[in-house]
Amino acid sequence: MKIIIINGPNLNLLGKREPEVYGNMTFDTFFDELKKKYPSITLSYFQSNIEGELIDKIQEVGFSYDGIILNAAAYTHTSVGIGDAVKAIATPVIEVHISNTFSRETFRHQSFISPNAKGIIIGFGLKSYELALQSFL
Ligand code: DQA
Repeated sequence: MKIIIINGPNLNLLGKREPEVYGNMTFDTFFDELKKKYPSITLSYFQSNIEGELIDKIQEVGFSYDGIILNAAAYTHTSVGIGDAVKAIATPVIEVHISNTFSRETFRHQSFISPNAKGIIIGFGLKSYELALQSFL
């Protein structure tokens, strides 16, 4: 089974960025642990701060992978383009967020991904990614 985690802007700073919201662990450390825990899954990871690069990656994997776990970060709330890309592809997308976006500012309550996602997992810290992975198993 081929699954990819795609992370959007500023998620490269996990571990340093607002630890009270996003925790202390770097994504690389978390991802290494996840790969070890689920050796039967071919798991890959892509992060970009650039909207078009995220769309390119979604298109590239969106007809051949078994699943996409997408945290589009701030673009979740602004990007019609990423929402359209999720709608355009055949691979199911699980939208994830580390924080509970609904307990935060109202601009974080809107998502252009959710209407086209297979499911949504929000607010469980980095565990949100693992729960999304388990949903594909
Ligand atoms: C986030 C929530 C977004 O509102 C925010 O812009 C992020 C991270 C999360 O995982 O909690 O960068 O997607």
